[in-house]
Amino acid sequence: MIASRIIGHRGAAALAPENTLAGIRKAAACDATWIELDVSLLGDGTPVLSHDHEFDRCTNYTGALSQFTLNDLFQIDAGSWFNNEGHPEQLPLLSDALLLCQALNLGLNLELKPRAGESELTARTVFQAISVYWRNPQQLIISSFDHDALSTYRTLDPQAQIGLLYDYLPELWHLQAAALQACSIHCDCNTLTSSDINDIKAANYDLYCYTCNDPQQAERLYALGVDGIFTDNPLLMGSPSQPNDP
Ligand code: G3P
Ligand code: MG
Repeated sequence: MIASRIIGHRGAAALAPENTLAGIRKAAACDATWIELDVSLLGDGTPVLSHDHEFDRCTNYTGALSQFTLNDLFQIDAGSWFNNEGHPEQLPLLSDALLLCQALNLGLNLELKPRAGESELTARTVFQAISVYWRNPQQLIISSFDHDALSTYRTLDPQAQIGLLYDYLPELWHLQAAALQACSIHCDCNTLTSSDINDIKAANYDLYCYTCNDPQQAERLYALGVDGIFTDNPLLMGSPSQPNDP
């Protein structure tokens, strides 16, 4: 369970380069207590923070992550592109991101982003890193659009908190959630209906919505029963506390 109504999306993607250590620090500086990060694999299987499987959008490189290895990381700048005024930032290793989140006492929703055909490899690799670098399972949720990856992760860690990601909620979502023993459902805030919200809450799942950068939309979602929202700008979204927090 995420003990916050606000989850910094990709760190704090409107305020610092996404999926970087600077972004993690920025989210913490904005008083976020939970963040979401994306993890992908380089060609040699090294897990790094990246939403995309190509470097083009968020770094000074082009081409597929699959063509690069750990030895290339020091030259990849994932910060300077940001807002045309960013500072150089190394593309982070997952291990460094995990250590920093814990040093800042941030809860983490780690989203698995496997390439086609690499669902199991990605889940196994991330599980290994989590086993070594993460202490408190209550402060970690593993999510993915790739339910095969989640299924592998569930086999490896029967206690893990797992969140199912959907762009559109399918009719059979509850069967998928039950099969994976999921604790939460993560939906696109622009496709989710109030009837979906009622169904998910009636079935006792936590419900989080991405990506909401409009405080009024967030209030409407909370009023309908959504437990939390992913936002690029935690500063805009008011208090991260649940209304019923002490
Ligand atoms: O995990 C919520 C959200 O990040 C899912 O979409 O494309 O931003 O990773 P995306
Ligand atoms: Mg994501």
